[in-house]
Amino acid sequence: MLLRKEMVVPDVHRPFHSRKGWRVMVNVAEGWKPDGCTITGDFVDCLAVSFHERNLARRHDLAWEIEDANAGLDELDAALGSKCEKRFVMGNHEYRLERYIAQKAAELFPFVKLEQLLRLKERGWKVTPYRQYVQVGKLKVSHEYGNAGPTAHVKAMADVLGNAVIGHTHHLGVDYTGNAVGESHVGASFGWLGDVEQVDYMHRAKANRNWHLGFGIARLEPDGTAHIQAIPIIKGRCVVEGRLYSAALKSVRRAA
Ligand SMILES: [Fe+2]
Ligand SMILES: [Fe+2]
Repeated sequence: MLLRKEMVVPDVHRPFHSRKGWRVMVNVAEGWKPDGCTITGDFVDCLAVSFHERNLARRHDLAWEIEDANAGLDELDAALGSKCEKRFVMGNHEYRLERYIAQKAAELFPFVKLEQLLRLKERGWKVTPYRQYVQVGKLKVSHEYGNAGPTAHVKAMADVLGNAVIGHTHHLGVDYTGNAVGESHVGASFGWLGDVEQVDYMHRAKANRNWHLGFGIARLEPDGTAHIQAIPIIKGRCVVEGRLYSAALKSVRRAA
């Protein structure tokens, strides 16, 4: 049976990303060659247009953030190849730009769009707006369903009455639940690819405890039934379907 390969890229928070984590994920994209790839939002931090209290020790420079995000997309596009079906789900950090324009320069709203700044259409990424979901097989993938914290992916299953994949929490976990009629559903949150040393909206101790570097993969049956796996990045390495990947090596050797 042909099982479609799907990859899920969680919160990267460029330009405040984990360089090692990013490299490992891109090497998997290149080596494993998924048929589909979904970015689940917070790909760009958009710190420069945040309305949160400003830490002036940090670099506030939207041009730099956009340039870095485009450099990341250049790498990921090249790794995925032209046949991959690509989906970009917006997160609350991308939404920061829309909110900033709406409040500070509403007249410019039609002209300043993150999806244009990232050239997503030209790159072949299909965009899903913030607070909406995209269907991937039988999975409903969204940045978030209005819940926070390490159990948000469990609550998301109840919210969608089915299979849910979220970003946002930076938690790495997969949970299953059944219902009274014997159906089984999955909820997953695939960690993040940011650098805990470079963000300051969470106490570092708490971030170290609750957030984990990683991403997700799934194999889809022809009817869309999804068999998903969280892929943790541990000590700069991960294993995908028996192959060990690191930041340095693209593909690699079969794990013993
Ligand atoms: Fe995030
Ligand atoms: Fe988020």
